[in-house]
Amino acid sequence: MSEPDVAQPEAASPWRITLADVSIGAAERDAVLAVLDSGWLSMGPVTERFEAAFEAALGAGHALAVTNGTAALHLAAAALGLGPGDEVICPTLTFVASAAAMRQTGATVRLADSTSLDDFSLAPAEIERLVGPRTKAVVVVHYGGFPVDMDAIGVLAREHGLLVIEDAAHAIGSSVGGQACGTLGDAGCFSFFPNKNMTTGEGGMVVFKDPEAAERARRLRSHAMTTLTWDRHRGHASSYDVVGVGFNYRIDEIRAALGIEQLARIGEFNTARARLAARYRAFGFAEHGLQVPYSTWRGESAFHLAPLVAGSRDQRDRLRNALQQDRIQTSIHYPAIHRFSSYAGAGSLPVAEEIADRVLTLPLHPGLAESQVDEVCAAIAHAVESS
Ligand SMILES: Cc1ncc(COP(=O)(O)O)c(C=O)c1O
Repeated sequence: MSEPDVAQPEAASPWRITLADVSIGAAERDAVLAVLDSGWLSMGPVTERFEAAFEAALGAGHALAVTNGTAALHLAAAALGLGPGDEVICPTLTFVASAAAMRQTGATVRLADSTSLDDFSLAPAEIERLVGPRTKAVVVVHYGGFPVDMDAIGVLAREHGLLVIEDAAHAIGSSVGGQACGTLGDAGCFSFFPNKNMTTGEGGMVVFKDPEAAERARRLRSHAMTTLTWDRHRGHASSYDVVGVGFNYRIDEIRAALGIEQLARIGEFNTARARLAARYRAFGFAEHGLQVPYSTWRGESAFHLAPLVAGSRDQRDRLRNALQQDRIQTSIHYPAIHRFSSYAGAGSLPVAEEIADRVLTLPLHPGLAESQVDEVCAAIAHAVESS
C-alpha cells in the first residue's frame, strides 16, 4: 500500500485529465521537514545518501546529483572533455537540452534522424553518415523510456572511437539485459523535473562509468574547488584550491531528501505506468487508423510517455484540438530540433520530421485512473470517427 498523497493546493488547471502529475506522499514531506529542521540545507550528507541509493538502484556507475537534467548533460560533456573543435552526433527528435548542453561546451552538434515511425530513437546508420575526423561523442536518448539499441551504438562507437552519452531523462528504471539505462555508455544523465518518473522539483543525476571522469565532474560541479562547504563545516578542510573553471550545479539537501523518498517508490510508479500503458495498447487504436509506436521494445521500459502516431499532421492537430475541447491535456514529443532557428542547417531528416508532424503524447502518470485512460481512448475514437 502506498501512503496517501498530500492534498495539492487548488490548482486553476484548465484540464480534467492532465498529461503528467506528481505523487508526493507523507514520507517525502517528512524527509523534507527533517532536512529543514536539521539546519543544514546545502549539499552534504543527504545528497551523499541520495547518490549512494541511486547507484545501488542502477547497480553500477558513479553518481553525482545536480541541479537539473540539463546540468547533468553539460557536466557529463565537460567532464568527458568535449570542447571547441569537437563534433557530437545527437538525435533531432529529443528535448532541445540534449543538444544545447553539448553546444554549451563549444562543441558542434550534428543532428541525426530517427530509426522509424515505430522506433523513434537515433538510427545507428546515421552515425555512419555523420561521423568525421572531429566526431568525439554520440548522444542517445531512451525516448519515452524505451531503451535504445545500445549493442549497435556500442559497435559503432568502438569502431569510430566515440564516447557515448546517454540522455536517460525518460529512462529511470529502464534496462536492457539486466543493465540499467544510464550505465551502458560513458555517462548517463537523468532529470527529476516534475513530469518525469520521479521528481525532486528541479534536479538531476549524472552517472559515470569511469571513476576519474566522475572525480573531474565532482570538482566541476562546484567551481572546480578542491573542497566543499560541507567539508569545511565538518572541520575536514579549512581552505581550498581552484583547479579549473567550473559551475555551480550543486543540488541541495531538501531536494536530495525528496529524491531519496521518490526513488524508493520508483518501482511502484513504473509498475503503474506499465499497467496504464498496456491499457492504452489494448484499446485497439489501429482499428481507427492510428499507430502506437514501440510495437516491440528491448529490455524493460520505464513507460515515461504514451505516444500515438496519427495518419497525418492534419489529423494529429484535429485530434489534439478535440481532446483540448474535452479538457484532456496532450503534448508533442518532440518538435524536431533541426527545425528550430538556432539549429538550422542539418538538411532534411525525413523520419523525425514525419514523427514530429504526426505524434501526439497522451496523458500518462501513476495517479491516472484506468477509467481516465478509457475516457482518453474513447475521446480519440470519437474524434477520429467524427472528422
Ligand atoms: C530527453 C530530455 N533531456 C533532457 C531534459 C532536461 O532535463 P531538465 O529539465 O531537468 O533540465 C529533459 C527534460 O526536460 C528531457 O526530456
